[in-house]
Amino acid sequence: MKQTVLVSGGAGFIGSHVTVELSNAGYDVVIADNMSNCDETNYNGVCKILGRKLPLVKMDFCDAEAVDKLFETYSIDAVIHFAAFKAVGESVAEPLMYYRNNLVSFINLLETARKRKDGCNVLFSSSATVYGETDKLPVTETSPRQPATSPYGNTKQMCEDILRDSVKAYEGIKGIALRYFNPIGAHPSALIGELPRGVPNNLVPFITQTAIGKRACLSIFGNDYPTPDGTCLRDYIDIVDLAKAHVCAVARMLDGKMKEEYEIFNVGTGTPLSVMELVTAFEKVNNLKLNYKFAPRRSGDVVAIWADPTLANKELGWKAERKIEDTLAAVWAWEKHIA
Ligand code: UFG
Repeated sequence: MKQTVLVSGGAGFIGSHVTVELSNAGYDVVIADNMSNCDETNYNGVCKILGRKLPLVKMDFCDAEAVDKLFETYSIDAVIHFAAFKAVGESVAEPLMYYRNNLVSFINLLETARKRKDGCNVLFSSSATVYGETDKLPVTETSPRQPATSPYGNTKQMCEDILRDSVKAYEGIKGIALRYFNPIGAHPSALIGELPRGVPNNLVPFITQTAIGKRACLSIFGNDYPTPDGTCLRDYIDIVDLAKAHVCAVARMLDGKMKEEYEIFNVGTGTPLSVMELVTAFEKVNNLKLNYKFAPRRSGDVVAIWADPTLANKELGWKAERKIEDTLAAVWAWEKHIA
C-alpha cells in the first residue's frame, strides 16, 4: 500500500517542490496550508506537473483541533513541517507573531503525533541560520549553534530542540531536522517557483525581478567583506535537489533506516559562491545585463557560510546534482512565466 506524507505549508515555494518529488517517488501526499503567504499558483502548478489533483486542506496548524481532525481524516505515515513565517526582518519587528505562529503550530503537530498509537515520523524544515557566524568552514552538523540573531532564527533553533526533546520523551515519535543552506531555483517546467510578496528580501528573486523590470536596480549588500571578491559567500542549493533530500529523509524514516531516533542533516552543495559570482553567472547563462550597484552591508549578514554535506551524502544517499547554470536558467524561465 502507498504511504502517505502530510506536507504542512505544501502550497509554498519549498513545499510545492517537495510535493512533486514525493509524488514522483510513489508517495501519496496531503497538502495542508493556511495560504497566509501564498495563493494557489504553486498548488495549481503541482497538479499540472503531476497531471492530477492532490488534496489541499486549508487550515492553520495553530488550531489544535484542526490538526487533530486532519490526522483523523487521513492515514498519515510521515509529516514534513514547512508551515512557518520566514522573513528575518519581519521577525525582528514582530517577534511575538513569529514565536506564536512558528512554535505553536509545531507544538500542536507534535501533540497530535504523540497521541497516535502508531507513532509518527516528523521531518522539520530547519535552516543553516542556526549556525550563525562561524569561523570553521564548511559547517558540519556537529558545528556549534550560535545564539540566534533574529526571532526567526530562534524559532528554528527552538523547534529543533522541541523535536529532539519530544523524540526522547514520547515513544513512537521519530524526527529528522534538515538544515537548508540557501534554497534557490524553480521547477524545470517553470510551473512552480518562488512567489515573494512585496519587495523580495532574498537575492535571487530580487535578481529576476530586476532583470524583468519590476525593480530598477539590484543592490549588492557589501563589497568590502574579507572574501576573494569582497561579496558574501553562500551555499546556493537548487530547489529540486533540496526537494529530493526530503524524499530520501522520508524514506529513511519510513523504511526504518534511522541510526538515532532524532537526526540532523545539512542540505547544501558544499561549494561556496559569492554574490558577485552568482550575479555574473545569471547574466551569462541568460544572456542579459543586470542593473546592479554596490550598497552598504546589510545588518545581520554573515560573511560566509557553506555546508559540509558529507553526512547527507553518506547517510541519505543524496547529493546536490543540478548545475548552478541550470538553476539560474530555471529561475529566469519562472520569472517570465509569472510576468
Ligand atoms: N543580497 C544582496 N542583495 C539583495 C539580497 C541579498 O546583496 O537584494 C545578498 C545578501 O547580503 C547575502 C546574499 O545575498 O550576502 C544572500 O542573501 P539572501 O537574503 O538571499 O539569503 P541569506 O543568506 O541572508 O538567508 C538565507 C535564507 C534564510 C536562512 C539563511 C541561512 O533566506 O532564511 O539563508 O543561511 F536562514
